[in-house]
Amino acid sequence: MKKILITGGAGFIGSHVVRLFVGKYPGYHIFNLDKLTYAGNLENLRDVEQMENYTFIRGDIVDSDFINQLFLQYGFDGVIHLAAESHVDRSITNPLEFVYTNVIGTVNLLNAARNIWKENMEGRLFYHVSTDEVYGSLGHEGIFTEETRYDPHSPYSASKASSDHFVRAYHDTYGLPVVLSNCSNNYGSYQFPEKLIPLFINNIKNNKPLPVYGKGENIRDWLWVEDHARAIDVIFHSGKKGETYNIGGHNEWKNIDLIRLMCKIMDRKLGRTPGTSEQLITYVKDRAGHDLRYAIDSGKLQKELGWVPSLQFEEGLEKTIDWYLSQTEWLKNVTSGEYQKYYEQQYVKR
Ligand code: NAD
Ligand code: TYD
Repeated sequence: MKKILITGGAGFIGSHVVRLFVGKYPGYHIFNLDKLTYAGNLENLRDVEQMENYTFIRGDIVDSDFINQLFLQYGFDGVIHLAAESHVDRSITNPLEFVYTNVIGTVNLLNAARNIWKENMEGRLFYHVSTDEVYGSLGHEGIFTEETRYDPHSPYSASKASSDHFVRAYHDTYGLPVVLSNCSNNYGSYQFPEKLIPLFINNIKNNKPLPVYGKGENIRDWLWVEDHARAIDVIFHSGKKGETYNIGGHNEWKNIDLIRLMCKIMDRKLGRTPGTSEQLITYVKDRAGHDLRYAIDSGKLQKELGWVPSLQFEEGLEKTIDWYLSQTEWLKNVTSGEYQKYYEQQYVKR
């Protein structure tokens, strides 16, 4: 049985990757390593926790002794690395936390993998999951390809760019078998309600203001999280060693247009008079260093590995809204405690 370590598996994207791999590959044993920060939630994995080919391990990738010991104990065959601090606004408030987890945590994992694989790299793979934000910001023209020069602006994207460079350096310097992907903004179930889509669904539901940064003119390229998980599966199994693949659905939305669409759908679903939820839109001070536009060219992944997104955005957004409206308990649990404190700091004192 192959032993695969997935880091950050209790988070938003990680939980979808764990679910996909545990269900699809009974010949793999999936080890989910997660620190369970505010963003990690084992409730995201209720349906897989009893599976025989699944083990959860609580631990911090920043702790190098613990990580080295874990790799020696289990002798993993492959790593899919998603654990990270992932929210741009938090990175502006506390950049060092992003350096610890995203940079040092990644280097700890690379060292541990190199140490146990150094005699035999055959059949091993270190898959690093990254973001399109490393490429910086586009104007109204252009698109990110795998050749686009790195130009990160936020502490989050700078830390992810740094981790990407380390992964490539371990390939070039030590021959570590690696593969990388850079994906655009994800949406779907189990996303922590600090990111735009789940935050606004929750606020619309509760008749709370919708804090739009700046003029709402920024553009993001949205991909359904389960399509990202499917791309990770394809790249893990068929991607070329040392290569990078961009992942995205060619689905750009100006924030304000997306927010208006969400308001419209939710008016319908909540039985409100059309136009009611839009009144919650509140323009607030812009995010510092706010990237104008992201857009991803996933042509390489589509041509070379045959991946295509499965869902139209409008359909995915409806599904996502339905999911959050039905998950009152999940939302209540994640929006209490730590998250609530952060929310006050971010928005009430803004
Ligand atoms: P998330 O914040 O929802 O989840 C991150 C997970 O990592 C959490 O379960 C958390 O507990 C865990 N974690 C954090 N610090 C840790 C540490 N020190 N040790 C062990 N575990 C730790 O993030 P996400 O949105 O699911 O993103 C997952 C990965 O995908 C990240 O690497 C992110 O950069 C990348 N990514 C995200 C998006 C997106 O739109 N969300 C897009 C492209 C790439
Ligand atoms: P976010 O979900 O934080 O993702 P990222 O910044 O990583 O792309 O934000 C998506 C867009 O929505 C981004 O342009 C910032 C904007 N935004 C708001 O206008 N208000 C908010 O409260 C949040 C969280 C985001």
